[in-house]
Amino acid sequence: MCGIIGYIGNKPANEVIFDGLTRLEYRGYDSAGIAVVDNQKIHVRKDIGKLRNIRKLLVDDFSSDSSIGIGHTRWATHGRPSAFNAHPHGDCQTSLMVAHNGIIENFMKLKKRLASEGHEFKSETDSEVLAHLIESHYDGNLKSAVIEALKDVEGAYAIAVLHKNHPDELVCIRKESPLIVGLGNEENFIASDVTAILQYTRSVVYLDNFEGAVVKRDGVEFFTIEGEKVEKNAVQVEWNPVAAEKGGFSHFMLKEIFEQPQVIRNTIGGRTSEEEGKIYLEELRLTGPDIYRTQRIVIVGCGTAFYSGCVGKYLIEKLVQIPVECDLASEFRYRSPLVDANTLVIAISQSGETADTLAAVKEAKKRGAKVLGVVNAKESSMTREVDGLVYIHAGPEIGVASTKAYIAMLTALTLLALMLGKIRSVLDPEFVKEKIKELKILPQQIERVLDKHEEIKELASQFLHAKSFLYLGRGFNYPTALEGALKLKEISYIHAEAYAAGEMKHGPIALIDDEMPVMAIVTQSDVYDKTLSNLKEVQARSGQLIVVVTEGDGEIAHLTDCKIEVPAVSEILSPIINVIPLQLFAYYVADLRGLDVDQPRNLAKSVTVE
Ligand code: AGP
Repeated sequence: MCGIIGYIGNKPANEVIFDGLTRLEYRGYDSAGIAVVDNQKIHVRKDIGKLRNIRKLLVDDFSSDSSIGIGHTRWATHGRPSAFNAHPHGDCQTSLMVAHNGIIENFMKLKKRLASEGHEFKSETDSEVLAHLIESHYDGNLKSAVIEALKDVEGAYAIAVLHKNHPDELVCIRKESPLIVGLGNEENFIASDVTAILQYTRSVVYLDNFEGAVVKRDGVEFFTIEGEKVEKNAVQVEWNPVAAEKGGFSHFMLKEIFEQPQVIRNTIGGRTSEEEGKIYLEELRLTGPDIYRTQRIVIVGCGTAFYSGCVGKYLIEKLVQIPVECDLASEFRYRSPLVDANTLVIAISQSGETADTLAAVKEAKKRGAKVLGVVNAKESSMTREVDGLVYIHAGPEIGVASTKAYIAMLTALTLLALMLGKIRSVLDPEFVKEKIKELKILPQQIERVLDKHEEIKELASQFLHAKSFLYLGRGFNYPTALEGALKLKEISYIHAEAYAAGEMKHGPIALIDDEMPVMAIVTQSDVYDKTLSNLKEVQARSGQLIVVVTEGDGEIAHLTDCKIEVPAVSEILSPIINVIPLQLFAYYVADLRGLDVDQPRNLAKSVTVE
């Protein structure tokens, strides 16, 4: 996720801003920039690369007496990592600069309209449209121009705006993406999160959605998107800088679990047109012939990425009606795989650096297959090996146990399946429109599950001493069971294995007794009744049942009172919401056992060796 800093006070702005940006590095980025106002002129320096490598440009060679400016670290979404795509972005005359965090969903329509009005664009980003929109509304009042500009905007934003005609004020405003105002002594700050400004002030105002501020040296005026004044209270931040990086959560993993509603918004942001029932994957780079020529698909990955691919199999076979097989990358690379020019290989990797998955990609290409990467990390090795890409836009994932990246992979695979299904005329536009609508409300449904975290923590506390767990699921949610079992074992060190529920009779049911907890995903689906009968067999043998069920499910009540309810969603989207309770359950078991959740023993975040 991008980082934003704004400063107005009595110190050299570019030094204060650079220092603040370095404290946001944990968020991950690929480029950075700073803009200041000096003698009614905007000065801007920006480039690709890490801050330590561009310090000369942003500070040492950027001597300025200016004490007002904005800065930004960019995690590329729309537009590749580059100097011209780095923020801040200016208007046509470089009279104003904007730093933005979020995704402007209707940027293509806005960019087309602004270009027809004569605006000239210098970048590939969605964010640049904000600068030109503000320019088109500017008539001397910066706050009004910002408010008017945002009336045209759909999507998520946190922005800081600097104008050469206003050397004594910054304007900022937010919707979905976080933004705060720091209150100092004859100096004030704007930031994406408190980490950036803790060394200057602990007095902070958290802006709510559709709230902004005019930030001056001697005071701050808060307003709403309607332009009305609003009173805001400052809070004293007690966190130390390390806690601040975790946003007040005790672990990065928990922070990342709670980020997931926003991650889904970021993954779908700017990629769907509900009215047309269309999906846009700009970096796909697969042509129509590539897609029509595909007779089968092979999905490869490791660990969580592999399990997301197993969901991908169900999605693509149902929505695109092409046969799909899933293979562990470490197996695929050595089994002389039978793939050719009519095979599309989909390689999934959060880091884009996993040795086995990279090797599988090379093996597939050697055999003539087209390879599509589903990747989080921009500019990673895998992005240079594949023929096409779908970025998952999860932002940097710090916790070794993958959570938000898994959700982002599932969301990206759903978009891909809808797009391929439409292109191959398997899906009609109405169905695609319906699924886009459902995807857009999924974040708030997930928030309802996250609200149950105390209930899930209480449930976890009952199973801290279990020796082994069985996870059961069917259909779309068999991979959910696989992923849930992996989460538990990799951070709590309790053995857990997952089975397709229909397999119970073929061996695993021998394991069942009152010492064996069984976690089962049994939400409403085409295989609900079948799964229910499997669970009755478990219960008949005194197995300890924990179930993930659809809200209001009355059938399960007599089977167990250890249940976690989730909102009803379409079966194809259910793996995205059903995994949330399993992530939280694993997290609390590990945390209550006093283990190192973010850095589990023996594990690395990215397995770059065999
Ligand atoms: C999942 O929680 C683990 N961190 C691990 O299984 C991981 O998913 C696997 O190593 C693949 O990593 P990648 O997505 O970066 O390729």
